[in-house]
Amino acid sequence: MQQLLSQMTQEEKIGQLCQVSGAEGYVPDHIRHAIQSGQVGSVINEVHKETINELQRIAIEESRLGIPLLVGRDVIHGFKTIFPIPLGQAASWNPEIIEQGAKVAAKEASMAGVNWTFAPMIDISRDPRWGRIAESLGEDPYLCAELGSAMVKGFQGDYLYGESIAACAKHFVGYGAAESGKDYCATNIPPNELRNVHMVPFKAASENKVATFMSSFSDIDGVPASGNKWLFDQVLRKDWQFEGFVVSDWESISQLTIHGLTENLKGAAWKAFDAGIDMEMVSTGYRDHLSELLQEHDEDDTRLNQMVERILTTKFQLGLFDQPTLECPGIFEQLPEAHLQAAKQAAVESCVLLQNRDDVLPLNKNLSKIAVIGPLADDGYEQLGTWIFDGEERHSQSILSAVQSSVSEQTQVEFHRAMNTSRSHEVQNMDALTESVSNADVAILVLGEEAILSGEAHCRAELGLPGCQEQLIEQLRQTDTQLVLVILAGRPLTLEPVLNNVDAVLYAWHPGSMGGPAVADLLFGDANPSGKLPVTFPRKVGQIPIYYSQKLSGKPVNEHNFVHIDDIPVRAAQTSLGMASNHLDVHFTPQFQFGFGLSYSQFSYQNLQLSTKQIDVDGTLVVSVDVHNTSNRTGVEVVQLYIHDRVASLTRPPKELKGFQRVSIGPGQTQTVTFNIDKRHLGFYIADGTYLCEPGIFSIGIGSSSNPELWNEFELIKTP
Ligand code: GLC
Repeated sequence: MQQLLSQMTQEEKIGQLCQVSGAEGYVPDHIRHAIQSGQVGSVINEVHKETINELQRIAIEESRLGIPLLVGRDVIHGFKTIFPIPLGQAASWNPEIIEQGAKVAAKEASMAGVNWTFAPMIDISRDPRWGRIAESLGEDPYLCAELGSAMVKGFQGDYLYGESIAACAKHFVGYGAAESGKDYCATNIPPNELRNVHMVPFKAASENKVATFMSSFSDIDGVPASGNKWLFDQVLRKDWQFEGFVVSDWESISQLTIHGLTENLKGAAWKAFDAGIDMEMVSTGYRDHLSELLQEHDEDDTRLNQMVERILTTKFQLGLFDQPTLECPGIFEQLPEAHLQAAKQAAVESCVLLQNRDDVLPLNKNLSKIAVIGPLADDGYEQLGTWIFDGEERHSQSILSAVQSSVSEQTQVEFHRAMNTSRSHEVQNMDALTESVSNADVAILVLGEEAILSGEAHCRAELGLPGCQEQLIEQLRQTDTQLVLVILAGRPLTLEPVLNNVDAVLYAWHPGSMGGPAVADLLFGDANPSGKLPVTFPRKVGQIPIYYSQKLSGKPVNEHNFVHIDDIPVRAAQTSLGMASNHLDVHFTPQFQFGFGLSYSQFSYQNLQLSTKQIDVDGTLVVSVDVHNTSNRTGVEVVQLYIHDRVASLTRPPKELKGFQRVSIGPGQTQTVTFNIDKRHLGFYIADGTYLCEPGIFSIGIGSSSNPELWNEFELIKTP
């Protein structure tokens, strides 16, 4: 490494800091010449096998020092085999299945010559209006940290080699707190909130040796991330001792000028360099100005060398220097069955059963007629979801086809698209449709959002089912047929208008290539739902932000002091109402809370035991609970543990997730689930990054959602 660095000219060093966008299928002359002259360290968005091989050949054989390229791609939830969108995967609460998915994606991407992905996206997302919530792992710091780290391990393996690819923790930091849920908007996050919420998953990714970080587009309290020296120099490098390298987001360095932080691209380049952004994605500030800037600032190559060294280290770790040529074998034509099965299992565990009135699910496979309704029922493309660059519809198995394959020969399955798209404002052939549903034993409505309605820059101000879907459901409610609603969506939707009009609701997010077989297995009982919400579902948009760990305020609301707008007496005196923290026109609870999800099994919680009622800050508390499966079928329960630090030098949330375990329990069986709690679970950060664990009384709750069934308490002490 040092020998290579010592041979490099300053221009070649700056070249390593530059990422260019590929032409997607051929090598344009300007890229060829740039690589030959050592001005390119990485290429993004090239997956054409021959082109990648040619790009690497030029770099290795035709540049002076033969330094191979990093080939970056957004492999967010699968490469060719598409897994559920990350928000859906998060609903599995299963680090193993997430790691497996990333491993499959890395294998497929590495075969195509990709050696770096821009994932996991671990932005804390508490605003379902924000389109990129689809790409996130939800609202909770602990869950995001656990699942994001699992994704890093899946992509990178035990070491960056062979079928592994470098991962990227993005978008550092706080991008999900964009004002009004509008992408790219400013974020105003105070230091304590940054440290205790938004930074938590990134710190975990750093501790789990993620190879790279990505700076976010967003303005953080007046200093956009890509020019934020405190964020990268102080927090990432000094506080966390992160050793990988930082890439900007797409042209986020040049955007510093648009933000108004710098006069021009040259100023932006210096701001980013000085902040510690190692590589510039696509914009050309470093290429055009860095050499001159170093001279003007009378700066030697010390910092430049550090940046180059970080990037070269990743290339060495990836084994890019180990062989004289880098010939990638190319993409699978037929996807391996093992990959498809992994995607199916991930989809099965991602779906969340939100409602199952009168146990209408699971369905009988021998019914005489099933109506399948909706524009998303037979659309292998839409079920793939957002951020799929390389997934192909031809690999998808739709819900309709899977239902048809699942039922017995005597069962008639009748499909009606009903709407042209999920956004249509009129129903096609309503009379025939109503007739068909009236004559069916059950109707499966596959509705929700098309993939394009979530993802980057695709934010919504209203969160109802798009188009005339609510009216369609209301019309079909007029029949006596049982209605099962399967929702494909990239975000929580406001479902209050439809819940009374359907019997069951299965939330499938965008479930990926194998979404059809997974949903069908769940509908017919070949699989038992186990998904739990990784994000709160609001009743109305006006409740946002609403999330389970919101602070109590000095006047918390409860069932006793809540007065609904319809119950307010005319001319009521100002102080006659509850005077509590709530809206007048909507109940203060969410539609569905974080951690919620039904199963075909039922579980009860008993006997919450603590190993002691008093522990030292350096001690460990053993917590156990008995979980009983009261049903007649095996089921998986996600047992969740929450704490409340009741009094501290900073107010703490009334509930914070600090542990979860997926346990499979047989019919009528009881399983004792145990957690070990220590200072890592009981402290909090203050603005300068110091971690405090203060003595005091803690409540501890365990249950099947963020409304735990059982609570207990203990005292944390500090022995002198
Ligand atoms: C995008 C996204 C980022 C992505 C990058 C490269 O604008 O913000 O998440 O990795 O550009 O496609």
